[in-house]
Amino acid sequence: MKGFIFDLDGVIVDTARYHYLAWKHLADQLGIPFTEADNERFKGVSRRRCLEILLEMGGLQVPGEQFEAWLLEKNEDYLSYISKMDASEILPEVPRVLEFLRERDVPMALGSASKNARPILEKVGLASYFRTVVDGNEVVKAKPDPQVFLMAADRLGVAPAECVVFEDAQAGIAAANAAGMYSIGIGDAAVLGEADRVFRDFTEIRPGFMEHLLQLEIK
Ligand code: G6P
Ligand code: MG
Repeated sequence: MKGFIFDLDGVIVDTARYHYLAWKHLADQLGIPFTEADNERFKGVSRRRCLEILLEMGGLQVPGEQFEAWLLEKNEDYLSYISKMDASEILPEVPRVLEFLRERDVPMALGSASKNARPILEKVGLASYFRTVVDGNEVVKAKPDPQVFLMAADRLGVAPAECVVFEDAQAGIAAANAAGMYSIGIGDAAVLGEADRVFRDFTEIRPGFMEHLLQLEIK
């Protein structure tokens, strides 16, 4: 494996929690029941698509203007959480893994559906690790479509079959698999069963496993 691609929300930083809180806030306002289990469907999915799913859950159909207003409201709520972010919100042992790869000159990319990805990376001080960032401002086809990861591989100059993807979302694992990449789920194995490997978090990823990935021949 020669290229490493990381999702952002729920992999590098715990913003998946803030997305959930912001959607939950809107759902409560609209009287739509919304649980953390429901939120699994929102992970890796564009803001617009998340709102469509929420309204489908509530059986609501609204005019375009109202839709746009709620999109804005959710994002403002989310931004109020991330405005306070700093390096303390990097998930455990992520820097160790990034450092391991940087020391070996392995190119890394960020592949996220979020339009807020760049400012978050800057805020937590990890931007310099990534040779390229592919985010929700560029991607047209959302995960589970492989577009985001294929663009990242292309910019790294690495063949898709020689890329590893770290993902916390079901849709993200499906996207990595569709791209023909080696998929690593970060989270619950019951949710991420389609991944090639699943770890609860980065504390479970030992240097030996990282070495193994670098030696691994294509799938
Ligand atoms: C990530 C998250 C999703 C979120 C999406 C868009 O993929 O996992 O839950 O909806 O980004 O984020 P944005 O910051 O653009 O609203
Ligand atoms: Mg994610």
